[in-house]
Amino acid sequence: MKIYVNGAVTTQFGELWGVSPRSLARGSVESALKDAGIESGQVEALFVGNMLSGMLGGQEHLGAFFAEELGLSVPAFKVEGACASGGLALHNAVNSLLSGQYATVAVLGIEKMTDHKPEDVATALMGAGSEEERSAGATFPGLYAMLARMHIQEFGTTEEQLAAVAVKNHYHASLNPNAQFHNLLTVEQVMGSSKVADPLKLLDCSPISDGAAAVILSSKKAKGSVEIAASVVATDSLGLAQRTHLTQLTSTQKAAQKAYHIAGIRADDVRVAEVHDCFTIAEVLAMEDLGFFPRGEAAVAIEKGETRLGVSTRVVVNPSGGLKGCGHPVGATGVKQVVELVEQLRGSAGKRQVDNATIGLSHNVGGSGATAVVHILKK
Ligand code: COA
Repeated sequence: MKIYVNGAVTTQFGELWGVSPRSLARGSVESALKDAGIESGQVEALFVGNMLSGMLGGQEHLGAFFAEELGLSVPAFKVEGACASGGLALHNAVNSLLSGQYATVAVLGIEKMTDHKPEDVATALMGAGSEEERSAGATFPGLYAMLARMHIQEFGTTEEQLAAVAVKNHYHASLNPNAQFHNLLTVEQVMGSSKVADPLKLLDCSPISDGAAAVILSSKKAKGSVEIAASVVATDSLGLAQRTHLTQLTSTQKAAQKAYHIAGIRADDVRVAEVHDCFTIAEVLAMEDLGFFPRGEAAVAIEKGETRLGVSTRVVVNPSGGLKGCGHPVGATGVKQVVELVEQLRGSAGKRQVDNATIGLSHNVGGSGATAVVHILKK
């Protein structure tokens, strides 16, 4: 059986203080239904990707909450997997279709973060880490800073090369009307921004964001359908201390290898990718773990522009602006990545259009690599 994305929409990402989670959900799901050309009565189940609504907003039970808001009296599920919640919700929705239980389902990824104090958000996000990391006072910028430090030591990666990831992704975001940031950056600006967790600076980090994205998945092909050729999840230890390697995420490697096998493709066949750049070092790791570049060579390639729109002849990475430029409302990110790929594969991405986009890959990570979700989409 083949599974298709028939409708795909993202809201504006950013600091959306005047917009409620209810209206973000309505805006994205109603637009996705319209994009799919179906009525809400044809949706047989709802999958919601979200991480923080319980801890920050006091509202759990999001499946039923949003089903009621959307006027869908159907089975509804909240799926949580830290920053990979959106990707995991998609994976579960795909499996529900493959099982034959449903023929058409909606997936909503949503997060509202900026209404809360930054320190409360940082504490809530650390719910994705290990108990030891929390009790040591670690934060996600701190954990990824350790991964960056290891990459610098092992491969001679430079802070300027990390900065090049942010420069590229802000450029791509400047072409995306729904992105949180539209300002271009220079390497010097990134290097001169305040240190958050050495060697990572403010402009190496994805921001705190609000936003939602929705897709309509179906086992029935429709006009504008894009096929989901593989949907794979892999896991690793929650804490970094339990890992054998700190310059690679084995969950990403495992998920990618299995996804390539299921889709019958090689890493080299991917022409457009949306990857999890929660911090600049994370995009470097992803490039190597997904097999786009040999170990230790991705940072140099990114610095040369080999993954940049208009320059790359191989794979364009994060044309949406990624988490860094487009924003990272954590539960929404994994769904937004797929929305961007659908636009790319349909040829409707406007100024961000990647030439010859026929195969796309999305890569969504929870925590510091404890969960990795890879989807492969085909035209
Ligand atoms: N990139 C670009 N600009 C950013 C930014 C980012 N990541 N974060 C904040 N800014 C901007 C703000 O828009 C603001 O600009 P303004 O003064 O023109 O309005 C300015 O920088 C200061 O913002 P502020 O909200 O005070 O920043 P902060 O110090 O509270 O937070 C971080 C900055 C980097 C600590 C925060 O964005 C963060 O924690 N990011 C990581 C989130 C995370 O861990 N996600 C999970 C990943 S696994």
